[in-house]
Amino acid sequence: MTQTADVSDLVGFTPYNIVELPLSVSTADEYLTIHWDNGQSSDFHYLWLRDNCTCAECVSTLTREQMFEICDVPLDIKAKSATITNQNRLSVQWDFESHQSLYHPGWLKAHCYSEEAREQRKILPKIWDKQLISQQLPVHAFSKIMQQDADLLTWLRDLRDYGITLVTAVDTTGSALKSVAERIAFIRETNFGTLFEVKAKPNANSTAYTTLRLPLHTDLPTRELQPGLQFLHCLVNDASGGESILVDGFKIAEHMRQHHPDDFKALSTLSMSFYNKDKDSDYRFKGPALVTDSSGAVVEVRLANFLRGPLDIPADQVTSLYSAYRRFMQLTREARFQYFHRLNAGDLLVFDNRRVLHARNAFDLKQGERHLQGCYVDRDELLSRIRVLERSCKLGE
Ligand code: OGA
Ligand code: ZN
Ligand code: ZN
Repeated sequence: MTQTADVSDLVGFTPYNIVELPLSVSTADEYLTIHWDNGQSSDFHYLWLRDNCTCAECVSTLTREQMFEICDVPLDIKAKSATITNQNRLSVQWDFESHQSLYHPGWLKAHCYSEEAREQRKILPKIWDKQLISQQLPVHAFSKIMQQDADLLTWLRDLRDYGITLVTAVDTTGSALKSVAERIAFIRETNFGTLFEVKAKPNANSTAYTTLRLPLHTDLPTRELQPGLQFLHCLVNDASGGESILVDGFKIAEHMRQHHPDDFKALSTLSMSFYNKDKDSDYRFKGPALVTDSSGAVVEVRLANFLRGPLDIPADQVTSLYSAYRRFMQLTREARFQYFHRLNAGDLLVFDNRRVLHARNAFDLKQGERHLQGCYVDRDELLSRIRVLERSCKLGE
């Protein structure tokens, strides 16, 4: 593996602006330090740098995927020399196999893993209650998000951050819902179809397809991966009742963490059971109602009363879980957390189904019809679409 760095010091399609310039580099035993012209500094371990070499020998120029494997160099690999080039690149000559690497300063800064930099890079959800969302609900016009990539990006960022948006004036005659969803990516098909029709049906296989009240829930908690985004497009709403209620599950979870820590712990560690039984399908999933990531942040909520199965947990934990679940549901019923909206024909609610709980009141068809059309798109697709749009649209940066 004798190789000098290839001309390319970036792989992939994301551009990196050079905002700060590297002035100098100093070396320690396990890492080197870059001193930037704004007075900041960044430490990069030799192993990390060697792992991220972009030369044509380490990364395939065809697939942009790594060919180099970190287990092929010694654990104590070091820089024989490390300098800043005239083009402001970090150049490292390794003490193993005479390999040389070159690093783009914008890329290095964007990937600095100091505690402060990692904290700054976090995209935190904008958590809401009734008051906040009543003032800040992101509303986007159908024609704009369909035509302009910049408007599409603003909508998708709102969706990512608030977990809820309202799209207005969506055509109710053609296949507008499909077109909006496909502005993001492909639709996630389920046993309810690619597009599902929410209306009272004679042989309903879901409470959603009756006129009954639907308590606050996430859709398909019966699946290992709950659908990420849910779209509900109102085609007709002449019935009485049937109003929509939405609650930020992250808000309830944070409230519980703060005020009822034992209940928070029970809901985030003990598994609920969810069942969806039909003639030709039988979906079941066991998992906690609140999912936390490695830093303890709540990243997912999973709840639907009408899809619950019998608890299957150690006997000495049953009371704790019931107590925590009851507390959570009672909190979601408090008006201060509920956003209330009566859907009109042409309204399209899009929300993060793994975060925001939705409900509808019972309705009465004596005065007219009620018909919504729905579909799902996974969270990965949303985030990927945002990143691709951000390559060319530099909005708000
Ligand atoms: C659903 C649902 C809400 C409504 O179909 O999952 O929650 O307003 N519908 O009918
Ligand atoms: Zn290399
Ligand atoms: Zn639902």
